[in-house]
Amino acid sequence: MCGIVGVAGENISAGYLLRECLRKLEYRGYDSVGIATINDGKITVAKGAGKIDEVDLRLCLQCLRGNIGIGHTRWATHGPPTDNNAHPHIDCKDRVAVVHNGIIENYLELKEELMRKSHEFKSQTDTEVIAHLIEDYLYQGLEPYEAFKKAVERLRGSYALAVLIIDTPDRIYFARRYSPLIIGVGVDIVFLASDIPAFLEYTRKVIPLNDGEIGYVSSKTIHIEDMSGRVVDIPSRILEVDWSPESARKEGYPHFMLKEIHEQPRVIGDTIFGFSKDYEAAASTLASSGNIFITAAGTSFHASLYFSLLTARLAGKKVIPFISSEYESYANLANKEDVLVAVSQSGETIDTLMALRSFKERGCKIISLTNVIGSVISRESHLPVYMKAGPEIGVAATKTFTTQLTALTWLSSLVSFYTGKIGRDELSEIKGRIMKLPDLATRTISRSEGWARRLSQVISSRHSVYYLGRGLGLPIALEGALKLKEIAYVHAEGYPAGESKHGPIALVEPGFPVVFVSIEKNLERKLVGNIEEMKARGAFTIGIFGEQSELVSRVDERIIVPSSDELLLPVLETIPLQLLAYYAAVAKGYDPDKPRNLAKTVTVE
Ligand code: F6R
Repeated sequence: MCGIVGVAGENISAGYLLRECLRKLEYRGYDSVGIATINDGKITVAKGAGKIDEVDLRLCLQCLRGNIGIGHTRWATHGPPTDNNAHPHIDCKDRVAVVHNGIIENYLELKEELMRKSHEFKSQTDTEVIAHLIEDYLYQGLEPYEAFKKAVERLRGSYALAVLIIDTPDRIYFARRYSPLIIGVGVDIVFLASDIPAFLEYTRKVIPLNDGEIGYVSSKTIHIEDMSGRVVDIPSRILEVDWSPESARKEGYPHFMLKEIHEQPRVIGDTIFGFSKDYEAAASTLASSGNIFITAAGTSFHASLYFSLLTARLAGKKVIPFISSEYESYANLANKEDVLVAVSQSGETIDTLMALRSFKERGCKIISLTNVIGSVISRESHLPVYMKAGPEIGVAATKTFTTQLTALTWLSSLVSFYTGKIGRDELSEIKGRIMKLPDLATRTISRSEGWARRLSQVISSRHSVYYLGRGLGLPIALEGALKLKEIAYVHAEGYPAGESKHGPIALVEPGFPVVFVSIEKNLERKLVGNIEEMKARGAFTIGIFGEQSELVSRVDERIIVPSSDELLLPVLETIPLQLLAYYAAVAKGYDPDKPRNLAKTVTVE
């Protein structure tokens, strides 16, 4: 949802570095791009509608000289993707340049006020008011930092901001509210970015900023003030991330999505290796709590639904799952004995953050599962636990989903231990089973690749596909449908298999593809009926099965993953569905890393 970057260094080529950082952030939005640098006492801007490489070809972004600059890759909210609406935005006198991620809710009233003072606007964006507002305060005689602070005080809504002011040519001013912003600390070079992968090639030392923090950076200075105006001690805030720069490169794969699907065995292993005492603390809190709620958006919601179903089975505990943007309907059910689990790979999704805050206000304990240390959701929770998927650059979640499933399977098993449903021996036995996942995932990938490529030829030419599952198979079916829909633009719906008779079956005609996901053996007896119902209407049936499934001969096409362990099948059966969606997108000529209209981290409600 828009990516911003900034760099201040010594003897650097700001244009080149900004372009490279933006390439790493393109998954956050890719309808326009732009950069601004300060050189020879002047702000120079190059920006335009289109993806980075297209705009670079037209305008040569790296040719912008200077030791300092800011950049932006856009996911349009206010105003269509045009050259004028691309960031950075500048004031009337080219004294101020602004890049912004978020939404300024009161921009119309600010714009009117500024227009009355003869400010001329060139774009339809909410962001441009910030440049003019700062200009206005500079004009009134305020020092640059004071003018910036005063302008930020007037803003309502969400923002991560990076700002150049010509009067202080060695500084980038920044502020954060609700939208992520991270400082990267190098030697004689400092970065600002919406996300860590932007500068991972240059430094692993990071300072994730908190909401309400404001300040400036130069090549050698970092100045941060917290919400109450106190100056922050910098050394104590620096974290070192263990992500490697390679993880943010394609390394020979045609797309990040395919690379990330192939990384799953390793990162599932890393996640298992990272099962820390924090998981135990989280599980024991869950075991002794009142109501348990779990919330997330999109793919992370599918993992959350899986956790609620599994915890009912393993621990006999009720977990109430809800989609985070719907939190208002659930928060008033919660009280201080209750726990909310917030699941978000990015740790920045605004809907999930809002749900977290509203449950926290009601006195609930908050457990989070995220992939990013220092992300706002992990920082605002009482008990953060992490998956270890490494940076995910493809917009469609793949390895973060299977690592979420792995982590939540372990959490659920621990809850079952802490509620006394299983003993220590059984718990170790479960851990031993989970530890087989990396090897089984490797075998699943090699077994599924050719199958998915072949089947994608059929799927990619259809208008619509159903994904049906029962029990633990349902969240996986929902995820399979989401993947196909979002990257191959084929209408796809996931449904409880039994529910398909209550409406969806009306669309089924000869050749209509229906994918069946079977995880639980004892539900196959019913699933067979659903397969037959679809076949009777001429559906083309596809099965995703474990090794001992009895449904193998019932469907037209099938993939059998190399296990029959119901605790492992959800992860393994996800993999062929990811590959199917990937190859369907490729067959249709789409870029699966950058699906239209989507952005990786959704920071507006
Ligand atoms: C789909 C996808 C999205 C995200 C959702 C939540 O492939 O990636 O549905 O799962 O936007 O994002 P996080 O997990 O970062 O909160």
